[in-house]
Amino acid sequence: MNQTALRNNLVVLSGNSNPGLFKEICSYLKIAEGKASVERFPEGEIRVQIQQNIRGRDVFIVQSTCTPPNERLMELLILVDAARRASASRVTAVLPFFGYARQDRKDKPRVPITAKLVANLIAVSGADRVLTMDLHAGQIQGFFDIPVDHLYSINVLGDYFRKKRLKNLVVVSPDVGGLKMARAYSKYLNASLAIVDKRRESERETHVMNIIGEVKDRNVLLVDDLISTGGSLVEAAKALKKEGALDVYAAVVHPVLAGSAVEKVSQSVIRELVVTNTIPIPPGKQSPKIRVLSVAKLLAEAILRIHSNESVSSLFAQSGVEA
Ligand code: R5P
Repeated sequence: MNQTALRNNLVVLSGNSNPGLFKEICSYLKIAEGKASVERFPEGEIRVQIQQNIRGRDVFIVQSTCTPPNERLMELLILVDAARRASASRVTAVLPFFGYARQDRKDKPRVPITAKLVANLIAVSGADRVLTMDLHAGQIQGFFDIPVDHLYSINVLGDYFRKKRLKNLVVVSPDVGGLKMARAYSKYLNASLAIVDKRRESERETHVMNIIGEVKDRNVLLVDDLISTGGSLVEAAKALKKEGALDVYAAVVHPVLAGSAVEKVSQSVIRELVVTNTIPIPPGKQSPKIRVLSVAKLLAEAILRIHSNESVSSLFAQSGVEA
């Protein structure tokens, strides 16, 4: 598709979750940033206006449901509603980070399944499709009754570690739930695989029970979908060192970094934590131990392919993951 046709048909808008990533995506696509104001009424209700004509356009709304998650989710829902009512031909909700995903099953009596609830809300608000990245669990795609394109950042994070050429590397999942992701990284990096058997004592506390696999005298790459309090990662790293691991690195897609997570990581035995920019890290929360890699190009490529009805899974050819 030529650049003029692209500019005429494709509109990318955003809420307030991640202005840096939004700018980078538009710049990669070489299109103007879509204009929408997302403000507040005096009492706090969200007030949205799309400030350009989007009739008959293919609209993508980029919004991570990161901190503060309820605000960001509501901004997304209202933006989708506004786009639908402004006669967009198709609306795609682009969630680089899909929050509320950890409550994805009834694992205790009388608890909700928020991942399903949020999926319903997005569809009911008027989204035709969803584009997202590294869901907490792949099966969350099935919670949507609209098409979902699920991207993986393994090419970005994995490539960074490929270039480091770490010797005698073992990829470690900090819990059993992350095994599929760790297996993909171990294939990608041609490394062995181990698992931490973690018990979660509370929302803020985890306890390592066992390490399954060989870690002694090996460099370690811990991989996870998100870091919230940092407890899982820091405890796992400590236990791995105790078992004789050499340097411990970590690759985590979504830097939620709640509370004192940054301090915890900075004071931990982790040598380097590499994350993506699906969630922005505020200036006060940066640390020399935390490196941020951009997924803007990956998201922009997927937007282009969806816009021109091309295959999105071909973005992952040879990465060892199934899109
Ligand atoms: C759990 O299943 C997730 O994949 C992460 O391991 C977890 O949510 C990280 O939380 P925290 O950083 O608070 O330990």
